Amino acid sequence: MPVHRYEKWWLTFGIGTLAVFLAVLGLRAFASGHTPPGSVLTVDPELIDTIAPWNAPGVYDRGDRVDVYLVGQAFSYAPNRIEVPVGKPVTFHAVTKDVVHSFTIVGTTVNMMLIPGYANEATYTFKAPGRYLVLCNEYCGVGHQFMQAEVIAQ
Ligand code: CUA
Repeated sequence: MPVHRYEKWWLTFGIGTLAVFLAVLGLRAFASGHTPPGSVLTVDPELIDTIAPWNAPGVYDRGDRVDVYLVGQAFSYAPNRIEVPVGKPVTFHAVTKDVVHSFTIVGTTVNMMLIPGYANEATYTFKAPGRYLVLCNEYCGVGHQFMQAEVIAQ
């Protein structure tokens, strides 16, 4: 049975569009070295225990600001108790050793995803002393609901 001329045109157009779409997607994804939004620093999850600064998670006072390096893994954060000063910008730098987690400080604007292979960061200045609950907002397995930490601003 012969294929109608218009149908051939449409088939050619459809397949052509698909080819262009896949070419553009492939170029963007591979040739341009795209990374997930907000993350440019890459880190091998297997090597987190051996590379600085991730091998020494903790709070580092830089004088006029504070850096906090933290590592997430199923189902905990290191450090688990984070003491930061009030009134100084605190930058949380976070990585994950295994699957996707989040680092969410309840009642603040800090809410970031920890994506395997990438370091993420968020900066926040605590205005008042207090204890802040840290939760994981990304379902990460059977212990997900137990994955928490505490930030103490003082
Ligand atoms: Cu980690 Cu949910």
